[in-house]
Amino acid sequence: MGGRLRNVTLHIRASVFQTPNRHEFEYLDDVVIAVDAGEISSITPAAHFEGRIDVTLEANTVLIPGLIDLHIHAPQWPQLGTGYDVPLDEWLFEYTFPIEAKCADTAYAQEVWGDMVPALLANGTTTAVYYGSVHVAATTALAETCIRHGQRAWVGRTAMDHPEGTPDYYRDESAEVGLAASRESIDAITALDDPHSLVAPIITPRFIPACTDELLEGLAKLAAETGYLIQTHCSENDWEHGYVLDRHGVSDTTSLDRIGLLRESTVLAHGCLLGDDDLALIAERGAGVAHCPLSNVYFGDAVFPTRRALDAGVRVGLGTDIAGGPSASLIAQAARAVDVSRHLENGVDQRLPASERGVDNSRIDATTAFYLATLGGAEVLDAPLGLLAPGRQFDAVAVSMAGIDTLPGHDTTSRRFERLVRLGGRRDIGAVWVAGRQVR
Ligand code: GUN
Ligand code: FE
Repeated sequence: MGGRLRNVTLHIRASVFQTPNRHEFEYLDDVVIAVDAGEISSITPAAHFEGRIDVTLEANTVLIPGLIDLHIHAPQWPQLGTGYDVPLDEWLFEYTFPIEAKCADTAYAQEVWGDMVPALLANGTTTAVYYGSVHVAATTALAETCIRHGQRAWVGRTAMDHPEGTPDYYRDESAEVGLAASRESIDAITALDDPHSLVAPIITPRFIPACTDELLEGLAKLAAETGYLIQTHCSENDWEHGYVLDRHGVSDTTSLDRIGLLRESTVLAHGCLLGDDDLALIAERGAGVAHCPLSNVYFGDAVFPTRRALDAGVRVGLGTDIAGGPSASLIAQAARAVDVSRHLENGVDQRLPASERGVDNSRIDATTAFYLATLGGAEVLDAPLGLLAPGRQFDAVAVSMAGIDTLPGHDTTSRRFERLVRLGGRRDIGAVWVAGRQVR
């Protein structure tokens, strides 16, 4: 045995369901995946493999790439599944800002993170892109919690200083104070002991209505200076989109671009009202959209045109938008992404003639939805994730098909895959690996 083989720490024998692109489902039947320091070094048919196997998945269990949730508001975890009776602007002030403000108490925030991160891993979310609260300490604690539980994460302190878009009790005191806090948060997160390099900071202006121009511009400079990724909300609904048109005279996308916040791998949440010009500009900059289909049902006012965005060359992944969306499961988001695309294609008002009711060529299928939940998200982040292939990180989820298959033994693999996307959930998920380490 050579030195190279001694470094191979893990051999996993499994069958794999995955999507190497948005049009194709791939089934790897009974392979051995070799993982070396967290990275996949080779994938070999088990029949041709000689050597030690560390883990063999049960016959009725498949391995899928770890799920990538591009949009989570961590402080909203305690209100998951509640409070959907008012529109976004009221929801923020009535429910959301009050609950986020509680994270001033770091011990309380730690309790929330300690409940949420394992729950998300149990749902198969191996990578999470988080908005923390405005508080540096609570946000640092979130990054620590991810490291402790072994979840890969981008963690952002939420920056928000606008005296009209935020309440008195929950905002950065000024643009200057907010900018200093965002710098401090980056320093605190990058100083954490993170032996497997799971966590990175992300620059997080909440959205234009909550931020002054001075803060937005300062954060853009910070991103240019440090190279860290950016996340924000973009053209989420009529109120928000209209507000930015009023204040800046242009769409969110154009405004973010002029300010310097529309960069490679900037994660734009929602985007329900993005126009074709916006989509073209987002594609050109290499930014991406976190499509949050379930949240958008409640707050988005319109269906995000996933297929049109993908056809325009925009990178797209999925987000739960916890707690704007009432489910922590990314498989549920994938299923809903398919559903809402059908609503968009068919239209929803039965009083209109069928020919005028919907938008042609809007539907996506289960393969594209699964791609969004895995490789699509990885492409937004430009990270070697989302696919079990040599050179990528071994982030993976074992899914038992026992509760998903109907009439076992009578189906094709592609139909079993389709059923996994539509029916799979937390109860079907077993072991979870991140960077080659079993974290559940
Ligand atoms: N826009 C600004 N903040 C938020 C938030 O917390 N959730 C959603 N869905 N949209 C937002
Ligand atoms: Fe959101």
